[in-house]
Formats: sequence, C-alpha cells, structure tokens
Amino acid sequence: MRVPFIAGNWKMFKTKAEAAAFAKEFAALYQGTDVKAAICAPFTDLEVLKEAFAGTGIGVGAQNVHFADEGAYTGEISVSMLEEIGVDYCIVGHSERRQYFAETDETVNLKLKKLFEGPIVPIMCVGESLEQRDAGELFDVVRGQLEKGLEGISEEQVRRLVIAYEPIWAIGTGRTATPEQAEEMCAFIRAALIDLYGEEAADDVIIQYGGSVKPANATELMNQDEIDGALVGGASLKAADFMAIIDF
Ligand code: PGA
Repeated sequence: MRVPFIAGNWKMFKTKAEAAAFAKEFAALYQGTDVKAAICAPFTDLEVLKEAFAGTGIGVGAQNVHFADEGAYTGEISVSMLEEIGVDYCIVGHSERRQYFAETDETVNLKLKKLFEGPIVPIMCVGESLEQRDAGELFDVVRGQLEKGLEGISEEQVRRLVIAYEPIWAIGTGRTATPEQAEEMCAFIRAALIDLYGEEAADDVIIQYGGSVKPANATELMNQDEIDGALVGGASLKAADFMAIIDF
C-alpha cells in the first residue's frame, strides 16, 4: 500500500528565520494528518527544519547533493553532510538543475547510487520539455531518463525511490498538466518500472506529479490511480496553501 506523499520544494526561497516561522505554523496545521509530507529546503535551512519538525512526522529534504564522498568540489555538499543533519529526502535531477547546473542522466545516476548507500530517500525528477511533447517524444524522453538514471540501481533500492514526474512546461508557469496528461505519464512510468524491475518492486515506488500544483487542482490530480503524491514548488511557500494541498 502506497501512502500519499506530498513534498514541498522551496527552491532558493526562505532564510533560516523564515523557515522557522513556516515550520511553527505548518507543524500546528499538520497535526493528525495521515498523508506523508516533507519540505525540501535550501541547505542552510535543513538543521532549523529538522529541529522544528522533531516528533511531528514531517520530513525534511535537500534539493541537491554531490556524488563524491568528499573532495575539492567548491560549493558542493556531500551525502554524509546531509546524513549528519538527519535529512530524510534529497531531490535529484530537478529540471532546473538539469537546465542551469549541467545535471545529466549520468550525474543523476551517480547521485542515486551514492544516496542509496545510506538512509536518505531520493526524489528523482523526470519530465519532458514542451518541444519534446509537441514532437511526440515525451515517452521516449522519460523512458530514457529512467533507464539511464536507474542504471545499476537494484530492485531492493528502487522500492525506496520516489519519482517525480514534472513536465518542464508546467513548472512555475501556472500551466498545470491536465489530470489525464499527468496520469498518462505516471502510468507509463509505472509500466516502465514493471518492465525494469517487475511488478512487486514497481508497486512500491511512489510516483508524484509536479508542476503548478495548487490547492485548486490538487484533488483532481491526487485522485488519479497512478499519482501517489505531488512535488510542490510555489504553493509550498505558504503553510496554509501547502496544508490545503495535503488535505486534498
Ligand atoms: P511549481 O514547481 O509547483 O512552482 O510549478 C514545482 C517544482 O519545480 O518542483
């Protein structure tokens, strides 16, 4: 049984003080909820959020990580640094990292492998651009991202994975995929996982939809069979909006 999982992605928003204020308000709203929730925040906020969410069941995630153990990689953060803080999740391969910071399917693969050595659950992002959708390449693109990103990942590891389907044209644009479009791709991803890992393992994988999810469209999206949750950018910045999505 997959428990619905809604994760916020704050991107480059919120100072420590702003994170602490959010956490206080959100923890109070979240009480008694059985939908899983997490906030993926800037590195500087992670410790503040771990402390503020202690005992609430709310998870904390990073938005990126390096795949090396340690080394001369100015500006980077290692998996063990995140583990020391007790981080629960880490986004890997977000389209903004692919677009602006040279993330590739190969680096996604290295990061997944490194994360799977420890307890942090990766949230792997896949999704096509508008040009790729219009050219009818959407399924090939996503299948390629899955195959390359998951190369060498075992069945046991993939069962812990979260995949976020985020069509690039729907991110931060206010243009949400229709529930049918989102469901179609999430079902395609599930079928690809069955192909690669078999039915039992594929059945454990949480598949989220992301891209302009907001309180007004969350219910429709979340009611689709193959959509197990959401990765929420803009609407996760306000505790009340984020909670309204969790309460879909
Ligand atoms: P958005 O971002 O909800 O603001 O469209 C989603 C994401 O990038 O994860």
